[in-house]
Amino acid sequence: MGGGIGKILVTGASGQIGSELTPRLREVYGKDAVVASDLRSPSFDDGPFELLDVTDAKKLEAIVVEYGVDTIVHLAALLSASGEQRPNVAWNVNVNGLYNVLEVARTRKLKRVFNPSSIAVFGPETPRDKTPQETVMRPKTMYGITKVTGELLGNYYHHKYGVDVRGARFPGIISNVAPPGGGTTDYAVEIFYEAIKSGRYTCFLRPDSTLPMMYMPDCLKGVIQILEADLSTLRHHADFNMGALSFSPKELVAEIRKHLPKFEVEYRPDYRQAIADSWPKSIDDSAAREEWGWNPEYDLAAMVDDMLKVLGERHRRGKL
Ligand code: SER
Repeated sequence: MGGGIGKILVTGASGQIGSELTPRLREVYGKDAVVASDLRSPSFDDGPFELLDVTDAKKLEAIVVEYGVDTIVHLAALLSASGEQRPNVAWNVNVNGLYNVLEVARTRKLKRVFNPSSIAVFGPETPRDKTPQETVMRPKTMYGITKVTGELLGNYYHHKYGVDVRGARFPGIISNVAPPGGGTTDYAVEIFYEAIKSGRYTCFLRPDSTLPMMYMPDCLKGVIQILEADLSTLRHHADFNMGALSFSPKELVAEIRKHLPKFEVEYRPDYRQAIADSWPKSIDDSAAREEWGWNPEYDLAAMVDDMLKVLGERHRRGKL
């Protein structure tokens, strides 16, 4: 077991990232060393699972005590588009849920907390190309506001109480196990399912909306690298920029058409366009590369190739 990690609690384990990160953590640290939790049961069923609403501080603490948890990977959150539909729920889950996690980490002297942040912490005044690690942070979405608050809280708990809180600003995550829910970057996942199932897709962003993205295998690798990083090498804590890919819907469509030349796409931008317009196009992640060795592997062509292979195979088996 690396990094002194003994027993991990994953919140939001049934979500897009949790559905793949939880099994990966079990491969690395052992099945019983990773307790999954969520509002709903996960698609994987090996190893311990607890129903948990992260706004319920008492239940969270009871699980931490019962299993002897020393590390929390806190994935439970609403994303940007859902957050605009239900800003009060986004604040409650994303901020009060994280506060409960940080408090239990402080009072129960846990070893480590991982809390993902997002490119949504940036806003229209932020430089959009190669967005620097330290820059203007004036998000215009409730999701972005909760994520800036989360970074500030994480760094506060680290400096004031010595809680080892780590976090990275995830770009849009592209994956093929569990669908994302309620994000602005979701088009880049949906498009693959529709390309394979129906050969046509209606995109809710403009063709030129370039956004930072990352393929799930790189995301999983990155989370384990951050969790395992030696604390003495970290100058940043809860707020690492993390980049991988950068592309627009038009560029993604062109890459998919190399495999499926007849793929048809229509563009009908909706309220999510304004969210995308307020976010960076690409990310300067040199701090992550220097401090904990971040080094993503997938470029656009490799990601598209793998997505179409995995989903195409599932479609042939009638399971898509
Ligand atoms: N994928 C997220 C969203 O679109 C960004 O963190 O909300």
